[in-house]
Amino acid sequence: MRKLLLLVGALCFAIGGNAFAFHDAGVADCAGCHTMHNSEGGKLVDPDSPDGNPWLLKDATPSDVCLSCHASRQGAVFGTDPLAPPPEKGGGNFVFLLEDNINDGHGGATSPISGDAAGHNIDAPSRGVGPDGTLLKAPGGDFPSSSLGCSSCHDPHGNTSFRLLYGTGDVQDGLYTFANPAPEAVGISLSSGGGAEANGNHTAYLSGMSGWCGNCHGDFHNNAAKMVHPSGEALGGTVANIYNLYNGTVDITGGNQAMAYLAAVPFEDPSVTTTSTAGPSATSKVMCLSCHRAHATSAPNAGRWDFNMTLVAEDGMESGSYAIPNPYNNPNQRSLCNKCHAKDVNDEIIP
Ligand code: HEC
Ligand code: HEC
Ligand code: HEC
Ligand code: HEC
Ligand code: HEC
Ligand code: HEC
Repeated sequence: MRKLLLLVGALCFAIGGNAFAFHDAGVADCAGCHTMHNSEGGKLVDPDSPDGNPWLLKDATPSDVCLSCHASRQGAVFGTDPLAPPPEKGGGNFVFLLEDNINDGHGGATSPISGDAAGHNIDAPSRGVGPDGTLLKAPGGDFPSSSLGCSSCHDPHGNTSFRLLYGTGDVQDGLYTFANPAPEAVGISLSSGGGAEANGNHTAYLSGMSGWCGNCHGDFHNNAAKMVHPSGEALGGTVANIYNLYNGTVDITGGNQAMAYLAAVPFEDPSVTTTSTAGPSATSKVMCLSCHRAHATSAPNAGRWDFNMTLVAEDGMESGSYAIPNPYNNPNQRSLCNKCHAKDVNDEIIP
């Protein structure tokens, strides 16, 4: 009987081994990321590092290892051309770190903001990027920029959280400790058939994102005693109503709750699904990713839209960087802050 069980177990494992994708069922193949002797078939596994790498990794840094699979597939988070990023899956793209200018504010062409302000810098020499030279630690907290990489946020050894994000406890071999749990959310499929982010195909942010970002950013943007924009707080009836009716600068009150969801300006609510198009209710929350993306964008501060520009259609013009798509497809569209605030009443330019 025990033999039979073992056999069944082995069979399941064999079948599972094929059907399961790399990170499923917890820890993936150790050899997918580690090498014990930096040698295989008499050749160096990482020819650039004859003496091997820290943590016996197969490439120079943790981020280099992750990018060996994730740069151009499985989410494609580091595209090859900052002017033609791969389909958006929610997190934004690290390729924008390579930009020489992302400033689309007035005069942006002559006062460049370099790509290291495009979002989270990662130490990945294989892609030509290193730690942020401007921000030496996480604003609002003390996480050191010199150590920031994929495995600062994602657990390389797998867990059951949304996108393998770390929950409470130690991260990065004990470098730092998270106090707040992983966010509750559901992502869209990373397969090429899974499609790009759209108003009916988007991460469903359920709860906890602001607290999670706060693991490294402290109470930045998130402390009622400070005069900063609320995050992780309920929209309230007035703002929720504006969001639901807002259908762009040229149609401020023409929308309706059932179709109001805008993937470019998401909110948190336990009722959201990856395909829902409904707008918020009074208890839905504004959170860090209402305005930012988690990885990087072609706008400063990993903005979901460029916070410096007047018209969304101006994006990319001053800087020559990738133009973030205008979700209203109208040349009069003003800043997407208006989705929640509608301060663009009468701002339509009538020629
Ligand atoms: C997806 C890539 C990946 C896989 C698969 C992986 N590791 Fe790791 N491992 C890492 C990275 C990256 C580090 C460096 C620490 C960090 O950045 O979190 C690490 C660190 C370690 C460490 C030392 C520090 C620590 O965090 O405890 C040990 C031990 C370890 N791995 C063992 C394993 C074993 C055993 C397996 C297979 C069961 C495995 N790893 C599978 C990426 C991986
Ligand atoms: C050997 C190739 C390989 C390496 C190396 C690798 N991954 Fe993955 N990863 C995959 C595959 C395949 C998937 C999709 C299937 C799955 O979820 O297992 C995936 C999925 C993911 C996901 C999405 C999981 C979800 O729930 O949607 C994240 C996040 C991720 N990997 C992060 C990392 C990080 C961080 C590293 C480096 C520490 C890493 N990966 C290294 C192959 C790899
Ligand atoms: C593991 C720690 C860590 C977590 C978690 C984290 N950050 Fe950061 N963040 C940093 C560090 C370190 C920097 C400064 C270095 C840099 O910009 O690369 C930073 C910088 C930033 C910047 C400024 C980027 C720039 O260059 O101007 C923004 C915006 C940001 N984080 C937003 C977020 C949001 C939103 C979340 C949650 C989705 C988050 N962070 C989660 C560590 C973290
Ligand atoms: C500051 C924290 C942070 C860092 C650093 C980070 N990620 Fe993520 N990542 C996230 C979050 C949060 C999400 C979910 C984004 C969403 O859906 O809005 C995510 C999503 C993803 C996804 C799903 C696809 C997508 O674009 O949404 C993959 C794959 C992934 N990350 C891989 C990586 C790899 C590889 C690296 C290093 C090159 C990395 N991440 C660095 C926080 C981080
Ligand atoms: C309402 C939109 C909005 C929300 C919500 C928001 N931010 Fe920001 N964030 C901005 C803007 C705009 C900037 C540009 C600087 C400024 O206006 O202070 C910024 C800048 C930043 C920076 C860069 C600061 C620096 O010194 O370079 C970090 C880090 C950051 N935000 C993190 C967060 C985190 C973490 C959260 C959630 C707790 C969050 N943001 C929520 C709009 C937002
Ligand atoms: C997802 C919805 C949402 C987005 C997007 C958003 N806000 Fe807000 N904002 C709120 C909520 C909720 C409040 C608090 C309730 C209120 O004051 O109406 C608020 C309050 C404010 C306040 C008043 C703060 C106070 O102390 O009275 C200002 C100013 C503001 N937001 C500016 C902005 C700017 C600028 C942007 C774009 C960078 C932005 N908001 C984007 C939801 C949002």
